[in-house]
Amino acid sequence: MTTSEELKQLVKEKYAEIATQSKQQNETSCCGSGCGCATIDEALMAEDYSMLAGYNTDADLGLGCGLPTEFANIKAGDLVIDLGSGAGNDAFVARSVTGATGKVIGVDFTEKMIEKARINAEKLGFHNVEFRYGDIEKLPVSNSVADVVVSNCVMNLVPDKRTAFNETFRVLKPGGHFSISDIVLVGELPDGLRKNAEMYAGCISGAIQKNEYLQIVKEAGFVNITIQKEKKINLPDEILSAYLNEVEMTQVKQGDLGIFSITVYAEKSVETTESKKAAKAACCGEGSDCC
Ligand SMILES: C[S@@+](CC[C@H](N)C(=O)[O-])C[C@H]1O[C@@H](n2cnc3c(N)ncnc32)[C@H](O)[C@@H]1O
Repeated sequence: MTTSEELKQLVKEKYAEIATQSKQQNETSCCGSGCGCATIDEALMAEDYSMLAGYNTDADLGLGCGLPTEFANIKAGDLVIDLGSGAGNDAFVARSVTGATGKVIGVDFTEKMIEKARINAEKLGFHNVEFRYGDIEKLPVSNSVADVVVSNCVMNLVPDKRTAFNETFRVLKPGGHFSISDIVLVGELPDGLRKNAEMYAGCISGAIQKNEYLQIVKEAGFVNITIQKEKKINLPDEILSAYLNEVEMTQVKQGDLGIFSITVYAEKSVETTESKKAAKAACCGEGSDCC
């Protein structure tokens, strides 16, 4: 059985290779250790970024599956964290809203992506867009600092999604929120599709059931959880047939089985357990009669 660390290594290798390719190459070629990767997920799932303020061609490797920044209600002066920032595509779009008074921190664990993103920030002359090397399961960010967290097509690649959402909760300020675009499943995908390691790195095999995903978000402590956008991913027959037999193909077409791109929004309540404890501690201080 593949361990979490092995899966992460596979993901890092794939994205290190992708970092050195153009968007066009990613969309039209197989990428690295095997086939069945970028051609499947990104080309079919990526949205058109080119009309968005802050869009930068060099940062767009065609890897997203939604437009989280469009739904994230970012404001001037905000501190925004982009989880799995790649070459900086969403980070630069977010920067166009936060302006010079805000800050954007992108986190990614593929060194070549961080290098590419930093070069892009340098070229753009942005000193308030920082790219940090790190794992989403252990974010290199202090507690309660972010106004907004965004992420585009990344959580599905993270083996421990519960820890990833706990970390997202930890770094958000009370009253902060996230908009995350991701891939989820509805119904059980046939084994053949799920087991393929390249498919994992391609965003599908690591995706979990939509209900489970939303439950994890809830259990991390988030409130006001809503799906801001949902889109079914229609894989072409030639791709499905590479992984599925005829019976399984029919199941996909007839059943309630599907792969979806969703953009989820959720808030960290102003009143967290910590803030209640802090308020109680302050209230119970010497000379106070409110406890
Ligand atoms: C599908 S790409 C999306 C990149 C970017 N969000 C975009 O839309 O252009 C996934 C990115 O997430 C990063 N990634 C995956 N798992 C990660 C983890 N556990 N910690 C940090 N980065 C991760 C990969 O290195 C890769 O750059």
